[in-house]
Amino acid sequence: MEEITMKDLANFAKTYGFIYQGSEIYGGLANTWDYGILGARLKNNLKDMWRKFFIQLRDNAYEIDASILMHPKVWEASGHIKNFSDPLLDCKECKMRVRADKLIEEFDSTVIADKMTDKEMEEFIKEKKIPCPNCKASNFTSIREFNLMFETTRGVTKDSKSTIYLRPENAQGEYVNFLNVLRTARTKLPFSIGQIGKAFRNEITPGNFTFRTIEFEQMEYQTFCKKDTDEKQYDFFTEYGMKFMEYIGLNKEKLRYKDHEKLAHYAKNACDIEYLFPFGWGEINGTHNRTDFDLKNHQELSKVSMEYLDEETGEKYIPYIIESTYGVDRIILALLFDAYNEEEDRIVLKLNEKLAPIKASVLPLIKKYHAEKAEEIYNKFKEHFMTSIEDSGSIGKRYKRNDAIGIPYSITIDDETLKNNKVTIQ
Ligand code: GAP
Repeated sequence: MEEITMKDLANFAKTYGFIYQGSEIYGGLANTWDYGILGARLKNNLKDMWRKFFIQLRDNAYEIDASILMHPKVWEASGHIKNFSDPLLDCKECKMRVRADKLIEEFDSTVIADKMTDKEMEEFIKEKKIPCPNCKASNFTSIREFNLMFETTRGVTKDSKSTIYLRPENAQGEYVNFLNVLRTARTKLPFSIGQIGKAFRNEITPGNFTFRTIEFEQMEYQTFCKKDTDEKQYDFFTEYGMKFMEYIGLNKEKLRYKDHEKLAHYAKNACDIEYLFPFGWGEINGTHNRTDFDLKNHQELSKVSMEYLDEETGEKYIPYIIESTYGVDRIILALLFDAYNEEEDRIVLKLNEKLAPIKASVLPLIKKYHAEKAEEIYNKFKEHFMTSIEDSGSIGKRYKRNDAIGIPYSITIDDETLKNNKVTIQ
């Protein structure tokens, strides 16, 4: 089978109800996507598997659901106001806005722009006369750092308005609740807080379908531990991440680890898991050793002590944090690529059964004779798992559609069923 392109997958996802363009009737809003009647279920099933693997199966692991809007000081403490930016420049000829690092790396893939300063990037672009991807001129403005956080305002009158941000990562919700969880779970280090929720980033680079969007969902997991155990926890979670990818059924051959060349402002060590998409390797998970960076800064700004008292040794210290973060949308995209198969005259979506949006479909062979029995079975099944009943079109077409949307069991009701209660399962 020929490799499917991103465009083909987007068409497939739209046709069958996995993913639609956001605000489509208005021509769409760039880099936003809506999960459809099957996509929303697929996403929920993935989140349930993550919950099982990271919360239920692990000891001392708790889930929270924090607010998307947080106190502006959170983003001061986390360093996002100061450091969370992209180096942008504009083409003076056609006004197209581009990211300097991407421009350089697409021009010469041997260069790691992440390691260059803004000044070095500007000089490199000038010296190599790198052309604008749109109009091919090489006449750019100087680089400006553009913060990726979405701002909004709170307050009704002009005077009382204050800037607040849509969270660019879930993590801070877990950090500001560190003391609450420690107290209410009556637990000890090491323990973990997980959270699934939306994050927002004002990304300007092209999206590659749902790979890079301005609103996306993260499943984040923070393990609070003693300083000198951080390396051990970091190694554990880089491996546990790969085990999770296998647990959800991703093809091992298309996964790899990638250590970060340039570390985020909060990290001492970072390693991604990448998936081989049609455009190349792309990050779907990241594990970071965030040290005591976040809690220390929250302590400083909030004036609330983030110290942990080790009752056995009497020692007091700020815990280190190992973060493992999973992009829901990127993992869904990888799962769809992996599962998509074209066989002779049909598409077969080979999803792990736990992820399948619909687990079983009941098909009365001839509606007139078999519908009543089909309905009886359908009503029994739907108490236990997501079931559909399909009674229109030829049986062959119904099988085909069920294969294309990854239904593991198609159950046909025919005369035999009426006689001896036996069904055909495909
Ligand atoms: N708390 C750490 C953090 O947010 P990150 O590497 O910036 O780290 C974590 O993001 C994960 O979120 C990534 O591995 C990726 O799967 C997903 N992600 C990041 N930016 C995204 C975007 N613009 N669109 C879709 N998913 C994104």
